[in-house]
Amino acid sequence: MTYRVTFEPWSTAVEVPPGSTVLDAAKAAGIPLGAVCAGRGTCGKCRVRVLEGDAGSASSEERTLLPAPALSRAERLACRTQVRGPLTVETLRISSHGKDLVPPLPASFHPVPTIRVHSVHLIPPTLDHPVADADALLAEVNRQPGAGALTVDYRAAQELPLAARSSGWNLAVSVRSHEVIAVRPASAHARALGLAVDLGTTNIVAYLYDLADAAPLGVSAAANPLSSYGADIISRLVHAQAAAGNGQRLQRILVKSINALAESLGREHGDGAADIQELVVVGNSGMHHLFLDLPGKGLVEAPFVPALRAPLTIKAREIGIAVSPGAGLYLPPLVGGFVGSDLVSVALATGIGDRPGVRLALDVGTNTELLLSVDGTLTACSTASGPALEGAALRFGSVASPGAIDRVWEPGPGAALECSVIGGGRASGICGSGIVDLVACLFRTGAMSRTGRLSADARGVRPSPDGDHLFVLAPAEQTALGTDLTISQSEIRSIQLAKGAIRAGIDTLMSERGIHPRDIEEVFVAGTFGSHLSVRSMLDTGLLPPVSQERVRRIGNAAGTGSAMMLLSDAERDAAGRLSERIRYVELARRPGFMARFARAQWFAEASE
Ligand code: FES
Repeated sequence: MTYRVTFEPWSTAVEVPPGSTVLDAAKAAGIPLGAVCAGRGTCGKCRVRVLEGDAGSASSEERTLLPAPALSRAERLACRTQVRGPLTVETLRISSHGKDLVPPLPASFHPVPTIRVHSVHLIPPTLDHPVADADALLAEVNRQPGAGALTVDYRAAQELPLAARSSGWNLAVSVRSHEVIAVRPASAHARALGLAVDLGTTNIVAYLYDLADAAPLGVSAAANPLSSYGADIISRLVHAQAAAGNGQRLQRILVKSINALAESLGREHGDGAADIQELVVVGNSGMHHLFLDLPGKGLVEAPFVPALRAPLTIKAREIGIAVSPGAGLYLPPLVGGFVGSDLVSVALATGIGDRPGVRLALDVGTNTELLLSVDGTLTACSTASGPALEGAALRFGSVASPGAIDRVWEPGPGAALECSVIGGGRASGICGSGIVDLVACLFRTGAMSRTGRLSADARGVRPSPDGDHLFVLAPAEQTALGTDLTISQSEIRSIQLAKGAIRAGIDTLMSERGIHPRDIEEVFVAGTFGSHLSVRSMLDTGLLPPVSQERVRRIGNAAGTGSAMMLLSDAERDAAGRLSERIRYVELARRPGFMARFARAQWFAEASE
């Protein structure tokens, strides 16, 4: 006997034996769930909402990890919910935001429209003039200024006969370079939209633009569904190689997520995803390979080489992206090892290589990429900083959404720590910026030593069930959790590992170029997560080398900005190609002294040489 589990918005169903969990069913169906703890019931990230069917009552883990309002909305943890009959559940939580949250493009950037939409009227064929639809179309578009000699994408050719006859032969025709890529019935609001996607290890963020005038329209984000296959890139690449068909399956999951983001943005700002006629996708080398279903074997074994480093332009439909059928998909070049096109995008957005002096850029995330420019000579490396800084591996860790603690501070000597909650109200978790603040506060107030050890007699510290200690940030009555919001000694340890990896990478790049922190003129902290970190906390925890606060600039999701620049101008794609050739990749594992630096950098004190 089996039961059917249906997943929305994917409209995908799978039959599983009774007793399977919803997470088992999701894996069988290839449905992305952010199961960071791999089903152990500790991360709280595999949330689904039960739309139909009997899912039984919530387990004790669910009552601990899910706030009461979520439980009353029928939200459950997929890994704790047993299939006892037919079920329909909703997954993939997409957060959508208006154009205000699209990072601004650099003032020096000049968009050059890559797609032109022509309004044309065709003369219908007659027995005396039996002209093929596509010939009539090309002749008409060719008459328009700047059109040049054209070809027609075959899917556009498929759409043409019906679009022409249903519209009285009045068409909106999209031309990219010398190819007709879309044909639609003419309409007052026919426009060409473009999607710039930052394919991060933990989150996927998509920015929608009007390609005619580079106007930002909106942004949507979702957790990277491949977290179900491991929080780190290496596990995902290994899984993709482990059996025939795995790679294709992971690719399909990523494509489905991007399709859902495209559809949600397209519906909000146009006639749906079909208005999207161009995409640029950036990511680290691992995500790039998984997205293209390229063998990642070379990336996980010495000498750590990608299968493909060069830029790639294909039709989006070739890998199942469901936008306008003729839309192009551009993947910018990688650098080397795990340093991918996301760092090339950061270099493009910051212009770091175009200025004299010493500048450092960090794209902070689960995989943190670092770029050092010394008078325009560029060196880069990648560190596996893990998801702890972003809260993913912490019991009360959360994404930066309403209910999450995003700031922690000490109001005065000896006073209890205070915190702010996104959206106000009671806390249901703590997001990355709150975590880094919290650790900085614990260090500054002496509740934690420079080795990261909680002091047993400090205010707020108490023994933990695992025989060690924990710090209570918010007592149960101030939270929506029904329990104290705490951070444990072992969680502090995982944060030390994460910040130590980043700092050791920075120290290694500086050492390679003979740079001292005092030489650094500017530090760019990029990444949606990194940009929310307090500069003071980054300096106090030693995540950044000691520079004055004014030299640190938080620049938002620069990988997304660079990707938008390449969406809106072909000249930027050429510039990205040149940049990728100029950046020298440094493989940290092979650098003498790296492990010693890593060990030192885990301490909460100055670690630079
Ligand atoms: S995967 Fe379900 S709680 Fe972590």
